[in-house]
Amino acid sequence: MATDLKTLARAASELPVSGIRRFFDVAAQMQDVISLGVGEPDFFTPWHIREAAIYSLERGQTTYTSNHGLIELRREIASHLQERYGVSYAPEDEVLITVGVSEGLDLAMRTLLDPGDEVLVPEPSYVSYKPCVTLAGGVPVGVETTAAERFRVTVANLEKHTTPRTKAILLGYPSNPTGATMPAAALAEIVEFAARRGLYIVSDEIYDRLTYDEVHTCVASVKGARARTILLNGFSKAYAMTGWRVGYVCAPREIVSVMTRIHSYTMLCAPILSQKAALEALRSGEPEVLEMVAQYGQRRRLIVDGLNEIGLKCHMPAGAFYAFPSIESTGLSCEDFAERLLFQERVAVVPGTAFGAGGQGHIRCSYATAIEKIDIALTRMKKFVDSLAVKVG
Ligand SMILES: Cc1ncc(COP(=O)(O)O)c(C=O)c1O
Repeated sequence: MATDLKTLARAASELPVSGIRRFFDVAAQMQDVISLGVGEPDFFTPWHIREAAIYSLERGQTTYTSNHGLIELRREIASHLQERYGVSYAPEDEVLITVGVSEGLDLAMRTLLDPGDEVLVPEPSYVSYKPCVTLAGGVPVGVETTAAERFRVTVANLEKHTTPRTKAILLGYPSNPTGATMPAAALAEIVEFAARRGLYIVSDEIYDRLTYDEVHTCVASVKGARARTILLNGFSKAYAMTGWRVGYVCAPREIVSVMTRIHSYTMLCAPILSQKAALEALRSGEPEVLEMVAQYGQRRRLIVDGLNEIGLKCHMPAGAFYAFPSIESTGLSCEDFAERLLFQERVAVVPGTAFGAGGQGHIRCSYATAIEKIDIALTRMKKFVDSLAVKVG
């Protein structure tokens, strides 16, 4: 770069490179790798949803939409949330269609934070949470959760990290990477704590449809939560629509109004074809959601049983599509484990430290992967772990 140029923005250029990305750049260069690494459904978007977008394109619907998003879609989202969780949002001014949950997260942070404001982030957490806080000028404060607590954040722990600068709690349940979920009673305690401290709650519920043992509790439906909650959700995971880039935000109108202002100067709107597809997904996609959840459920048992048999202790994740086993029994750090597994046996997993505190000693294995591939991956992982035991012995 030319030496007379001024420096790039500090907050941006000092962001760490995603631990996942770095690893997968290496895996992508290799042959015959089985990847349990990507957090993306291996299903195609159901055909009728793709068709809705195709028809829409044929009709020449290639324009911007309202900044808020298509009103039909906002209405459908509002009635979906009402039916499913009994929580009510006005489609006119309390629902905003975004470019995935990713944009919703960014807007939420930019709307809430003044420079130096702190956000409590239970960890291990989704890789984008802390960087989004930082980019909005805030300070992310990791709140470590542990396998012993089933990776559920407690009020006592949140309390310990709260200061006069704390502005919000960022919840992501069901969790990427741990698969942890939060029962209604535990959420009620967190809401009570947030109310006592005057905090906002940003709740990323992108995996709400992917729970296996219990139904999901929407944070906004907990008593006292709605007025302080920004609810984020989208279509990427439940409907296998990662590439469409469409999601939504629901919050009280005063908050949505500010978020919409930012959105209208930056994104303008989510792609119209994706909004049409999302509308079809909500109206008629339920059978496929149930079918995909059933398949993830089978894979979950297979991978968790397999990992435990290999000697990698793994709790049964209640949601999302990730197993988060401990690799401590091998004596390796999670980075070494992941790297050696990749080079020795060509299985890609993500080291737990990519997700922050509490991740050391763990790896994330996505089971959004075909059963046959999970089978092969488990066989290879067993070979790898056995080879370590032989060397240690
Ligand atoms: C917890 C979580 N939130 C948000 C996202 C991004 O969602 P979207 O595709 O809607 O931007 C992901 C993707 O992996 C995720 O795991």
